[in-house]
Amino acid sequence: MIIDALVLAAGKGSRMQSETPKTLVQLLNKPMILHIIDAALKSRMINHAYVVLGYKREMVEAVINHKATCLVQTEQRGTADAVLKAEGAMKSDDVIILLGDMPLITTAIIDHVIEVHRNQKHTLTVLSVDQEDPDGYGRVIRDASNHVVKIVEDRDCTPQQKRITEVNTGVFVVKRDALFEATKQVKPSKKNGEYSITDIVEILGKTSKVGVVRSSDADALSGVNTVSQLLAAELRLKERIVEEHIKNGVNIAPNHVSIGADVFIERGATLLANTRLGGNTSIGKNVVVGPDASVEQSTLHSHVRVIRSVIRHTVLGEHTSVGPFSYVHDHTTIGPYNKIGNFVEMRSTSTGAKVRIGNHVRLLDSTIGSHTSIEEGTLVISDTKTLTHTVIGNHVKIGAHCVIKAGVHIGDGVYVEDGSRIDMDIPSPNGNGTS
Ligand code: UD1
Ligand code: MG
Repeated sequence: MIIDALVLAAGKGSRMQSETPKTLVQLLNKPMILHIIDAALKSRMINHAYVVLGYKREMVEAVINHKATCLVQTEQRGTADAVLKAEGAMKSDDVIILLGDMPLITTAIIDHVIEVHRNQKHTLTVLSVDQEDPDGYGRVIRDASNHVVKIVEDRDCTPQQKRITEVNTGVFVVKRDALFEATKQVKPSKKNGEYSITDIVEILGKTSKVGVVRSSDADALSGVNTVSQLLAAELRLKERIVEEHIKNGVNIAPNHVSIGADVFIERGATLLANTRLGGNTSIGKNVVVGPDASVEQSTLHSHVRVIRSVIRHTVLGEHTSVGPFSYVHDHTTIGPYNKIGNFVEMRSTSTGAKVRIGNHVRLLDSTIGSHTSIEEGTLVISDTKTLTHTVIGNHVKIGAHCVIKAGVHIGDGVYVEDGSRIDMDIPSPNGNGTS
């Protein structure tokens, strides 16, 4: 059974006290809405995701960037009204509804609730969870024989219902036709005029089989409505990601290591204290990062060593070492067995194999061949106006404290003495050019 997912995310999130749509607030530098869409799309039972957007919809749509089909709810009249905006779009026999403010939901939970729904042949399956502090959540009301009867929103609860700790997570798996039929029967709340999707539990319960999956993972299924809930969720997510990597055989120092949700780390890698990995980053076997390092949107092949340095939008070849105190960034590709010293900046530069870059070197917009070495204090000056590219060949030796003008070509096997100023091309002594 492959089904469509529907994420309700049209609200502003007024309780966050911010002009940014709630779904765009970030957890570990990733917008909340993408945590949910990614968890859904990782499920082998979900075919496609739809998202209902409203408040600052263009902004959210740009972030979603075609991962899901965006639908529009112009006026936020409640979650039932939001669901109706998907009627023409969703085609699968069953659908799963998710809320745009549950960033810690996991693919495993999604798979489980869909599976139970299918095996039990329910018309509607509600995912509930026990929250120690159920304040603000809809409560699950059961009858004497423990069957779910309805969900009562926090604002409508009697004092006795307020004490119920089993709450609605907002996740429903439901037969498509029954969903839209029931949703159209939802009446506006007398308290605030909103149409609540939770009312379909009572509506469908009268004629068809409604069941509950009761989860025990309160953290994964918490809603994020306030800034303090956001901070708590981010902290929990951070811990969860680190725990997962430790379980997979990554060695992680106990203090101040932060790993983004989209980071892949091979077993046997080591992250030392104060290391931050973010974006779509991939860390190979036996890599050691840290202490005090930050790696963003980069690939580190096996046996790489990064010490007290910042690596962004970069590929480091196997057995390469960087740092301490270096900055390698902006689409730089370093070959295997390179040694990049300390206080080095490399920007938009590529190197071949076995290159040695001494301390205090600055290389911008350059291509460096294999087996080349550049001694300390040498600068390749960038020309931001003409964006010319500097090329240094294979087996080149450039001495200390040289200044190389942007755009020059230095041929294979050239030897440049300490303190030289190079402002024109130097052909290879063997007759091999680089251009
Ligand atoms: C909702 C549930 C509540 C549940 C809780 C779990 C309803 C009515 N209530 O309450 O039972 O315990 O989540 O966290 O569903 N949205 C729209 N259009 C609207 C209104 C809301 O798309 O007109 C979206 C919001 O952007 C949000 C989601 O629906 O992503 C839930 O809305 P929210 O206001 O956070 O509902 P809660 O009060 O948290
Ligand atoms: Mg909420």
